[in-house]
Amino acid sequence: MLTEPFKIKVVEPIRSISREERIQAIREAGFNVFRLPADKVFIDLLTDSGTSAMSQAQWAGLMLGDESYAGSQNFFHLQSVVREIFGFKHVIPTHQGRVAEHLLFSTVVTAGKVVPNNIHFDTTRANVEHVGGRALDCAIREAFDPDADHPFKGNMDLAKLERVIHEHGREAIPLVMMTVTNNSGGGQPVSLANIRETRQLLDRHGIPLFLDACRFAENCFFIKEREPGYRDRSVRDIVREMFSLAHGCTMSAKKDGLVNIGGFLCVNDDALADQIKNLLILVEGFPTYGGLAGRDLEAMAIGLTEVLDEDYLRFRTAQVRNLWEMLDQAGIPLVRPAGGHAVYLNARRFLPHIPQPQFPAQALAAALYIEGGIRAVEIGSLMFGRMENGRPVYPDLELVRLAIPRRVYTTQHMRYVADSIIDLWRRRDQVRGLRLTYEAPVLRHFTARLEEVEPSVMAR
Ligand SMILES: Cc1ncc(COP(=O)(O)O)c(C=O)c1O
Repeated sequence: MLTEPFKIKVVEPIRSISREERIQAIREAGFNVFRLPADKVFIDLLTDSGTSAMSQAQWAGLMLGDESYAGSQNFFHLQSVVREIFGFKHVIPTHQGRVAEHLLFSTVVTAGKVVPNNIHFDTTRANVEHVGGRALDCAIREAFDPDADHPFKGNMDLAKLERVIHEHGREAIPLVMMTVTNNSGGGQPVSLANIRETRQLLDRHGIPLFLDACRFAENCFFIKEREPGYRDRSVRDIVREMFSLAHGCTMSAKKDGLVNIGGFLCVNDDALADQIKNLLILVEGFPTYGGLAGRDLEAMAIGLTEVLDEDYLRFRTAQVRNLWEMLDQAGIPLVRPAGGHAVYLNARRFLPHIPQPQFPAQALAAALYIEGGIRAVEIGSLMFGRMENGRPVYPDLELVRLAIPRRVYTTQHMRYVADSIIDLWRRRDQVRGLRLTYEAPVLRHFTARLEEVEPSVMAR
């Protein structure tokens, strides 16, 4: 029985919106859910980042904010919590994850350098490329196949990594990253055995290993559930073992820090920490606040402790799996298996009548909004399609991600989401493709405007 391990003390009303209002809103938004006002959304599954509900302890912690410019008590609290959980020496706060990435890569990456990862998240890739480096994806073959079932689909392909090291040379690789869980590959976990083997391989070449730690607790809970030998170990213990294999980490606390804003960077190396802190002062602020208020540091310290509660993690992963199972039982095409934070619809199979130039995943995201006021995000041709030598190039996958905010929605909300998707599946032939009427030169999916290629029955 899936039961929330919390009760509700404060409520945020959500409004159910009529179908007519939804049709008008999505038209005004140019069939782009990023352009919808949030109060026109009933269930918001756009992202799990920065959307968590804070606990009573975190809200109480905000009142303990010490807003001193230097040496805030909340920094020392955060530092001691992070040191205890992750085991790193230097804890450098940032206002979110991508700043930690920017500080790290602009310190160690120069033009021509190569940074392998299982699969880079967009911001890690962009921050590597921004300083002239190359971001390479080296996850196992199964990570790129939506139908492949594998307990640790986020694992690194060690043979591929070894080939990359030989091809580019050790000097060209300042560090290797591993993303836990692997967001761009469907929120799939990485096994401890794989991290250990990656570290052994890198030790032979003298290359440091960093973890992109955003969803570390969800990943470690999967290790406890799935990896032989870990069932009787606490998640806290598994986390400690995992991070003992790394030289540092970047963290967006907007995920497993259970806060609405915050992040940090950890390293053991003193000289590297000094370089990063000097840059931090230039772009974020003093090293004891890193672009955050003291109260934000306090909420983050408390959230990092709460996220390790195994009742919470059991519910969290079961809630995502439960939505996945309701959809799978109805025959909806999905990325297999369920991830730690999201369920992914396979839009090419959902809408086989819509060709890729007509953005099937975007059409599905817009139709899902019309169907149930549910906001999800396209990960397909709108996000990744591009022109090469005057010809359009399309990605292999057309996905719609349903990311589930932490501690926000109930089991009944998830039932509603599943029912809406199942209703839409029954009438899928009524969904029409889209064409662009406006696109920005970079990251077009955020601001694009589209229209239906022909008047659809859905939006009538
Ligand atoms: C795996 C991963 N790394 C890095 C980031 C960037 O974090 P932020 O949004 O806090 O900058 C994200 C955010 O979604 C992520 O999922």
